Amino acid sequence: MRNAILVTGGAGFIGSNFILKWLAEETSPIVNLDKLTYAGNPANLASVAHDPRYRFVQGDICDQDFLDSIVHAHRPRAIVHFAAESHVDRSIHAPDDFVATNVVGTVNLLQVAKRYWSELVGTERSAFRFLHVSTDEVYGSLAPGDNPFSELSRYDPRSPYSASKASADHFVRAWHHTYALPILVTNCSNNYGPFQFPEKLIPLTILNAKEGRPIPVYGDGMQVRDWLHVSDHCAAIMAVLEAGTVGETYNIGGLNEKTNLDVIGAVCDLLDERLPAVAQGRRRNLITFVKDRPGHDRRYAIDPAKIQRELNWTPRETFETGIAKTVDWYIRSDAWVESVVTGDYRRWLTQHYGGAET
Ligand code: NAD
Ligand code: DAU
Repeated sequence: MRNAILVTGGAGFIGSNFILKWLAEETSPIVNLDKLTYAGNPANLASVAHDPRYRFVQGDICDQDFLDSIVHAHRPRAIVHFAAESHVDRSIHAPDDFVATNVVGTVNLLQVAKRYWSELVGTERSAFRFLHVSTDEVYGSLAPGDNPFSELSRYDPRSPYSASKASADHFVRAWHHTYALPILVTNCSNNYGPFQFPEKLIPLTILNAKEGRPIPVYGDGMQVRDWLHVSDHCAAIMAVLEAGTVGETYNIGGLNEKTNLDVIGAVCDLLDERLPAVAQGRRRNLITFVKDRPGHDRRYAIDPAKIQRELNWTPRETFETGIAKTVDWYIRSDAWVESVVTGDYRRWLTQHYGGAET
């Protein structure tokens, strides 16, 4: 496929939303390389499975020979790197997988991209981009009055997940400074929207509240996250890929700081408006305080001024519009939920929360 872009981790939450948006708005093809871990689900992409511009390849970014063969077979004009282990709680239980995929896998991809790019000539070489999708968690945790994270904020990762992503970010920048690989880095805040695996706060809350099960809240529930609808994140990545300055970092955020209790309350109220009451009455009654996450970061917030100023990107969804759409999507997507709620997922719930909280 000529002029394709290669996406890693495209069967996950953000990657699949990105592919759907890309195929709806762009003309060029897309190749999706994904290992299909518990978090990867080809059903997310069922609507484009027969699109001639879409190709799926199952494989692991830890396998350099395989990456080499894919890159040389498809000759992409860009690589957009989403593939990662992404769940903080899992990183606390099993950090090794995070080092393998997020650090070693990213370095493998950089090695393969560098070899491939160095063989290109002319405009193919000058147009090539390696876009690394990262997180605001690399900057650590903010106190209540602190300014939001900017691109100049100091790195201070505090969980195995954020340490692995911070490490990957450093490697990506090192490949630019040392080998001139044309990289771009994005650091984004918390996403929510369709196809998010129900280990993360918002889908877990929607599904538990829908069914009248306890909603687990870590600690006092006053931790703050800066929520961004996934469609706005994907639009930002497309803007950076199209017009970002090589070597630069762009912070992406929704200007939507909310406590976890506020988020959970909003989801409960939306479900109460849409569905019959549960045995406990209002769904807010399902809130159950549980043991805090070890090393739990208190507050994240992003200052998106640079991407707004330089690339004219701004979020389209407010938290209110985005969360209502998301709740509606989960209500009407029972089949998708069934398809992701595998034996592995059930084991995770039992291991992490114990039987009672879920
Ligand atoms: P996700 O866990 O939903 O999906 C990850 C995908 O990567 C899955 O499809 C999985 O099968 C694939 N994958 C995992 N290991 C792989 C390997 N070794 N080789 C190939 N594929 C592999 O994650 P997500 O929430 O969609 O996040 C995507 C990216 O965005 C990650 O890099 C994450 O760090 C970053 N990010 C996420 C958020 C968020 O709020 N979810 C915010 C900012 C940045
Ligand atoms: O900030 C960006 C990051 O956001 C991404 O890089 C990560 O991939 C993504 O998982 C997310 O990390 P968080 O740890 O912030 O997301 P999570 O949905 O796991 O938790 C959000 C908040 O809710 C956090 O303060 C922990 C809390 N929480 C979470 C769960 C799953 C609960 O109180 N109860 C829960 O059951």
